[in-house]
Formats: sequence, C-alpha cells, structure tokens
Amino acid sequence: MKTRITSVKARQVWDSRGHPTVEAQIGLEGGAVGRAIAPAGASRGHFEAVDLRDGGSRFGGLGVDKAVANVNGAIAKALVGRDGTDQAGVDACLAEMDGTAQLERLGGNACVAVSLAVLHAAANAAGLPLWRYLAGDTAPRLPLPEIQIFGGGAHAGRRIDIQDLMIMVPGAQSVRQVLEVTGDVYRAAGKLMRDAGKLAGTADEGGWWPNFDSNEEALETLTRAIEAGGHRPGEDVFISLDIAASEFYRDGRYRLALDSTELDSQSMTDLIETWARRFPILSIEDPVAQDDTKSMARVTAALAPLAQIIGDDFLVTDGARVHAAAKAGACNAALIKVNQAGTVSKAHAALKAAKEEGWATIVSARSGETEDLSIVHLAIGWDAGQFKVGSFARSERMAKWNELLRIEEEMGNDAHFAGWGAFPPALKRGKRGTP
Ligand code: PGA
Ligand code: ZN
Repeated sequence: MKTRITSVKARQVWDSRGHPTVEAQIGLEGGAVGRAIAPAGASRGHFEAVDLRDGGSRFGGLGVDKAVANVNGAIAKALVGRDGTDQAGVDACLAEMDGTAQLERLGGNACVAVSLAVLHAAANAAGLPLWRYLAGDTAPRLPLPEIQIFGGGAHAGRRIDIQDLMIMVPGAQSVRQVLEVTGDVYRAAGKLMRDAGKLAGTADEGGWWPNFDSNEEALETLTRAIEAGGHRPGEDVFISLDIAASEFYRDGRYRLALDSTELDSQSMTDLIETWARRFPILSIEDPVAQDDTKSMARVTAALAPLAQIIGDDFLVTDGARVHAAAKAGACNAALIKVNQAGTVSKAHAALKAAKEEGWATIVSARSGETEDLSIVHLAIGWDAGQFKVGSFARSERMAKWNELLRIEEEMGNDAHFAGWGAFPPALKRGKRGTP
C-alpha cells in the first residue's frame, strides 16, 4: 500500500457548543483517507496547546479561518510527500514548524486535527480499525469508563464549584454492563431532581444541571441516585470527581462560591480528604490548583489507598510534567487529552511517561466535542485502562460509548475489561463508607 501523503485539507465545522472548529482530511497515495476534528476545552490548563481563534466580532471571536488556512497552506506544503505512517516524523514536523511550546502560531486546533487525521489515514491504509492498528500484536483492555451524572463548574455556568460528578463501576464484567448501570443512575438522578423541583436541563457534557444549594448536596444527591437506581454506593458503584480547582484558585486561596467560603491550601486539602472519607469516592481529578504542587502531594499521600488522584490541568498531557509531578509525589494518575498536547505523538509520550511511573492513565474527551471517535480508539489501542467522555446523554458523548460497545462486541472472547485493574497499585479495592 502506498502511504505517501498526497493531500492535506481542512474545513471549518461546528462543535457541541455551536462553536467553530477545525476538521482535517488527509489523503494518501494508495487512496486511503483519514479525517479528524479538533475538540475544545472550557477549563483549560495554563500550559496546554492553545487553539488559534480569529478574534474580532465574527462568531464571538471564535472563528477558525486562520487555523484552517494554516492547514491548507503551510502545513499542507510541509506534509505532502511525507510518509503517512511516520506519525512521529509528521508530529515533529508540526512542532518544529510552529516553533512555540504551546503551538500558538499554527494553532493547537490545526495541529491536533492534522495529527489525528494522519493517524486515521495510516490505519485505513493498513486496512485495520484504528484501535487494532495502534495495539499491534498486543491484546489491549477495554477501558473502565467514568461517566458524568451532574455537570458543574465551567460546564454549568459555575452553578456549583465541583466541575464533574461522575460514577465508576469497576466491578462490572464489561463495558456493556457499566453502561446499563449508568443508565439506571442517570435516570434516577434526573427523577430525584425532578421530584425536588430542581430539574433545570443539562450542562455542557450532558450531565444534569446542578441546581444544588451546596457542593455537599451534590455529593449526597449523587450517592442517593446510585441507590435509587438500584445499586449499592461504595460497593458496586463509586463516585469520581473532577474538582478542576484551578478554576476557583486565586492568590493562594480557593474560593468556593456556592459554599461562600475561602480556603487556604491546607483547608482545601482537608476538605477534599473529608469528602473522600464521607462519600464513596474512588477518583479525584485536580483536587488542587495547577501550581499548588505541595498540596497535590499532600492529597496524594493521604488518599492513595482510597482514591486515585488524577492530574489534568496539573499535567496538561506533558511527559516532562508527569515525571516532575511523580518526583514530587503529586498525583498517581494522568488524564490524557490529545489536544492538550497538540499532537498524537506528544500525547502518547505523556501516557507512556505515566505508565513508567506506575500510574493509571485516563484518555479523556473535552467539554466541546463532536462526532469524532478518535479517542475511543486511542483509549483501547494505547491500553489506557480508563476512559472519560462526559455524561450519558447528547450524541457527541453517546457516540463514544456506543463505539466502545461495538469494539467490545468485535473483540468477542478476547475482550478483557480493565475493571479494578485500571487503578494505581496503591488503591485498595473494595467497599467504601457512605454517609
Ligand atoms: P474541559 O474540561 O474540556 O472544559 O477543559 C474537561 C475536564 O476538565 O476534564
Ligand atoms: Zn479536568
């Protein structure tokens, strides 16, 4: 199969928030085509790749004409003629051409769409599903999902401070079973909100809009929803939180608007520890701010037996930051977002760095998503062990869960669900107390 890149093209398409984004399409000499769309975050880390937006008044400044032009112009010129199966070479070329650490010139959105589209084209040229192309001869696991039930933070008008309240079902036997349990809990949570006169629609990632009077009421309601859905909180269904604490950290203080409190680092970590002991919590992402390494190390040391501690904004899918955090004892799991890194190769390097440190890894979507299914295949093909896509509603989310189901079916008897094995070794499996 001839795999030389013959065409590189981009177009403006639209994401799940109705914002413009970049779709790239790559053609190879033998006729294989690959296509991918850049997602977009709303609570972004300081150090992640930045999207190139046009500014001005058109589309609220969010236009991507410049990013699209970069793909059709400079990037196409540099990539046509290269081998489409040389992902590392393509990604190095993008990074070199851009020349900035955060891909500000070409745009993280332009680069990630092109990088993923090249990967798809190469897999198509090999005649393989992307996950299989990435896995080679290995037998990768189906990842353990974490699925949002309530939105919050930047995804729900800052209605509550916690950004994501999710569930995990590590004792399930399959992805199919996890999704069935999630359907029960999602419906039960909606009914609890409706009965309390608090149903107010859904947030950016499809979770219920969090009409709560305190952050703890959100945790209590989620625990009750697990029960009301017919499952046992702390035994078969657990809570996973993304605190996204950088969003409410300023000048050394954590400002929890809903609880009308302002906490210093010590009090913030005390609060996280209290929640982790009171509620059946198995995973906590960004419990403290992206530059509060000491506090991150304190939470990790205190909670490692109870809950995995994930760095998202804290690590921004960067291998060097993963190693530095590990050295400081901060985090024991890394969230992997390809568009934070800007290229497939850099994201994969961060995932490998986390595995070298003995950490867990979670491939993740962004709050602004599309029908693009690339991350489902990366989560499996890279054997990430865990997968985070948002909630259990809205088709830009459901498309990912449904693709996971198709692949599980296709694997047949070879399907191996990661379950409890997806967590860092320090985590003690089994029961958690409930309030
Ligand atoms: P974002 O949030 O995509 O809006 O940055 C998702 C997350 O924090 O995990
Ligand atoms: Zn996050």
